[in-house]
Amino acid sequence: MTQATQKSMDFDKALYVNNMFAEISGKYDLLNNLMTFGCHNKWKEETINLALKEVKEPKMALDLCSGTGDLALILNSRLPEIKIKCIDNCSEMLEIAKAKFKNLNIQNIETTLMDSENLSFQSDTFDLVTVGFGLRNLVNKEKCLKGVYGILNPGGVFSCIDLGFPVNSFWQKIFFLYFYNLVPKLGEMFAKNKEAYTYLPMSLKTWYKQEELKDLIIKTGFKKCYFKNIFGGVVAIHIAVK
Ligand SMILES: C[S@@+](CC[C@H](N)C(=O)[O-])C[C@H]1O[C@@H](n2cnc3c(N)ncnc32)[C@H](O)[C@@H]1O
Repeated sequence: MTQATQKSMDFDKALYVNNMFAEISGKYDLLNNLMTFGCHNKWKEETINLALKEVKEPKMALDLCSGTGDLALILNSRLPEIKIKCIDNCSEMLEIAKAKFKNLNIQNIETTLMDSENLSFQSDTFDLVTVGFGLRNLVNKEKCLKGVYGILNPGGVFSCIDLGFPVNSFWQKIFFLYFYNLVPKLGEMFAKNKEAYTYLPMSLKTWYKQEELKDLIIKTGFKKCYFKNIFGGVVAIHIAVK
């Protein structure tokens, strides 16, 4: 495959993902609650708890692929003084986040339309970078991780929560049955968008197993990385220190 063909395929994927999130933005939170039986908030809280164990008195944080802003809201509730930047390349998703921050009269969270693969911040700017269910959707995950490494302060922390692969094969069968069969139906019923919720399980096909993501993070330059499996590995939280 030529470089030009690869570039055009990458562009198509990025555009497809962008349009998909724009289409489902209004129903995104509802579907998250339904699909995870409301558990995703607890998992996101755990992501922030683990990150805050590693980083001392963070002042500046960045949330990548912020979507409707859940991780930023949890971080803000824990550390109301911290400055948080939320970025996403889908304006429809960010608008929902912005409305939430405004309703809660939160002043210290800024939202910016930005591609997580092309971070335009100065080196050594952030104490904490978070990403929730976002890295998996990127075309060039390695590029994003390199960018994150560059903008973190030395000792800064990167925390990533995303889908994982269940460790137990019986549990994996049950999970895949649910994910590949029921999730698209939920998407069709509640978001009127079966395709988007068919893409979701499909995105697992090109996603890293927990150990692989840890290796990739270490290869990027982070001096320490570990992960915690949630719900038998259906979800995993990776924590890395620069
Ligand atoms: C599954 S949602 C996750 C939203 C939120 N972080 C959460 O945990 O609920 C993925 C988000 O990543 C965003 N996204 C996908 N590709 C992106 C990119 N290249 N740059 C920035 N945001 C991106 C989408 O627009 C979407 O809002």
